[in-house]
Amino acid sequence: MIDPPLAVLAELTHRCPLQCPYCSNPVELERSKTELSTAEWIRVMREIADVGALQVHLSGGEPMARPDLDQIVAAARDAGLYSNLITSAVLLTEERMERLAGAGLDHVQISFQDSEPARADRIAGYRGALAKKKRAAEAVRMCGLPLTVNLVVHRQNLTTLEDLLTMAVDLLPQRIEVAHVQYYGWAIRNRAALMPTPEQVRSALETVERARERLRGRVTIDHVVPDYYGRRPKACMGGWGRRFLNITPSGKVLPCHAAESLPGMVFETVRERTIGEIWRDSPAFDAFRGTSWMPEPCRSCERREIDWGGCRCQALAITGDAAAADPVCDKSPDHVTLTSFTNQALAEGAPDLVYRRYGARAG
Ligand code: SF4
Ligand code: FES
Repeated sequence: MIDPPLAVLAELTHRCPLQCPYCSNPVELERSKTELSTAEWIRVMREIADVGALQVHLSGGEPMARPDLDQIVAAARDAGLYSNLITSAVLLTEERMERLAGAGLDHVQISFQDSEPARADRIAGYRGALAKKKRAAEAVRMCGLPLTVNLVVHRQNLTTLEDLLTMAVDLLPQRIEVAHVQYYGWAIRNRAALMPTPEQVRSALETVERARERLRGRVTIDHVVPDYYGRRPKACMGGWGRRFLNITPSGKVLPCHAAESLPGMVFETVRERTIGEIWRDSPAFDAFRGTSWMPEPCRSCERREIDWGGCRCQALAITGDAAAADPVCDKSPDHVTLTSFTNQALAEGAPDLVYRRYGARAG
């Protein structure tokens, strides 16, 4: 018997007005003409509730690029789902925020690139991004919705983490996430430019600890050591096929955000079968579910049902084998490869950023 997922990430579109160099969406984006229709997303919201999930994260690309977002939010509410909008917020005006709140949206998460306008706009590749995001955060507050501020950190902004946290606190969120860039999809191209130094990682841990002390009882701050500096992997997605699933703009149902990078896998779509059927018996979900697929050192490790062997996509990206132990783990024979990637990225200095441009690859 397979437990239901807790939450679903619905990537409503890959369209996005920003050009972030750390974008974790696949290198090949899905075109807008392949996106699920309004009626299909409404059906999908019902199926998400039917499979037993409690939450839906509405994401992208930029989900605000869908003019029918209000209808999708209303369908999530009608299905009894808790809905969270994950947005860059540059398209989130006061008027649209009021409509979304009226449609039943429960929570908003806004990502920030920096606390200083020129630096923030440079990373986002979008003029005026920071000012728009701050106005949107205020609009969320005016509608009475809880807000999470997501601070995306890397080598080019970690020295200003104190300022980033001050800016975040001023936006009066319930939660702040200090999120180190993860190297999936497009972000791998910018690894050398974005990889933090060991000193930055140490200093970030101290800065966050001080802020937590200062802000205890006022705001929660989440922060985890970036993967490339870890010794034990995280349970990516809470374990493959155990807690979460992703739906791409065209309706492919994936065990994780980056699963399409794994070779030889076939992903079914919501146009072919229900989400419940796919979750319970699709070969892609079964491929790394549980522990029976694990080779050593995971097979006999006492943490195998804690981290579930870490991340399959990271294992593939670093070792070339999706079934290997996540090389973040220092029991993995490939841990040295991960360390050498880190050292190589740092030795290369900070080359120019390669921006993600939606229009250059899809449309
Ligand atoms: Fe996790 Fe495998 Fe490392 Fe054990 S050996 S800690 S299960 S990645
Ligand atoms: Fe795919 Fe971790 S991102 S398993």
